[in-house]
Amino acid sequence: MTEPASDVTAVEGREATQGSPILVVDDDQRNVRLMESILRTQGYHVLRAFNGEEALRVVESDRPDLILLDVMMPKMSGFEVCQRLKGRYETRLLPIIIVTALNSLEDKVQALEIGADDFLSKPINKVELLAKVRAILRVKSLQDEVERQKKALETSNDEILRMQGFKESMAQMVVHDLKNPLASIMGNVQLIQMQHGAMPPQRLEELLDRTQESARQLMRMILNILHIGKLEEQKMPLRLEPIALRDVIREHVEEMAGLATRDGIVIDNAVAADLPALHADRELIGRVIANLLSNALKHTPGGGRVTLAARLEGDEVVLSVKDTGAGIPEDLLPTIFEKFVAGQTDNRKRMLYDSGLGLTFCRLAIQCHGGRIWLHSRPGEGTEVFVALKLRGPADAAAPAAAAASGPRAAA
Ligand SMILES: Nc1ncnc2c1ncn2[C@@H]1O[C@H](COP(=O)(O)OP(=O)(O)OP(=O)(O)O)[C@@H](O)[C@H]1O
Ligand SMILES: [Mg+2]
Repeated sequence: MTEPASDVTAVEGREATQGSPILVVDDDQRNVRLMESILRTQGYHVLRAFNGEEALRVVESDRPDLILLDVMMPKMSGFEVCQRLKGRYETRLLPIIIVTALNSLEDKVQALEIGADDFLSKPINKVELLAKVRAILRVKSLQDEVERQKKALETSNDEILRMQGFKESMAQMVVHDLKNPLASIMGNVQLIQMQHGAMPPQRLEELLDRTQESARQLMRMILNILHIGKLEEQKMPLRLEPIALRDVIREHVEEMAGLATRDGIVIDNAVAADLPALHADRELIGRVIANLLSNALKHTPGGGRVTLAARLEGDEVVLSVKDTGAGIPEDLLPTIFEKFVAGQTDNRKRMLYDSGLGLTFCRLAIQCHGGRIWLHSRPGEGTEVFVALKLRGPADAAAPAAAAASGPRAAA
């Protein structure tokens, strides 16, 4: 049956169909040519196959969006091709229109039962063919979109699960690390409560020193954990202000002086008084210094020396913290600025804790200033950590992150 030309024109006018490859499968070349010419008038890209096996090969190599599949073919029938494609995971959603010369109800029922999406009867009706093709391709494109969204959801779900697992293991490690200084504080307080009447003043002072040291460590670890989280999520606004590095260092050296004296370590603040003010976040830079100082003291034996220095190099200030301690084990060096990378501290005379978060915090705090941090260390020869910061502050100091500088800092 032929259709009036006007019907075809109406279809053409309604829809410009581009580039969707459609596979036409028929052992009769005339049928293939006929369907091809109808489809081409609408701009479809047409692939051809003249038997079932060839059809399966074309599906494999050219991934069509739709198949028009003849039933009566030698060797492999259209039903069998359909069954095979619908039975495979990768091709189960590929739409198939069964084209049959037999206008029998039984054939149509079988076509639907084996998973065909629609059927067409021969002789081909142009309008019906194009309408069905369009409808099925529309459904296919929606289906593709659903598949894409499903994949995207699966990917983000995997990422969430990975993050969740990471946070859980981080939480476990953190809780474990915080337990140690807290146990020391509680032990010392208990000791003082039990014996304070009978305790020599010197012993009492020593216990109070140790308690304060553990409390400081605990506070440093808690702030490291909180700040690492915020810095990683870029939720930590910088409060930029001119800071005198020598003064910031002096404050932290004074805080650690008792500990250093007790352990026979000399701390030098070798920062020149005339070093120009640095434009940076005072609290963050102070905490970087506290962490580097704590590391140096932790790993330097009695009789050793820790030197803090800073010099101007071009438009940068380079701060260094040098010790004469044990040095960093070589196997830790490649990942030393990563989370939870920690060595074993053998000096158990002092209450020392190795949670492996200090240098991670330092790296993030310096990076968010647009600066650099690196170190030189040799086992047995000591360690020197360097921090380079732009004198005028981060290059994007005028950007929103820095603009928030004057605003209140989110609770630490
Ligand atoms: N100055 C240093 N001398 C020798 N080893 C060091 C020095 N600084 C760091 N390390 C080594 O690097 C590891 C990581 O240091 P980092 O400051 O990140 O964590 P931490 O000191 O173990 O724990 P915290 O989270 O309390 O700072 C330490 O465990 C230690 O083995
Ligand atoms: Mg540390």
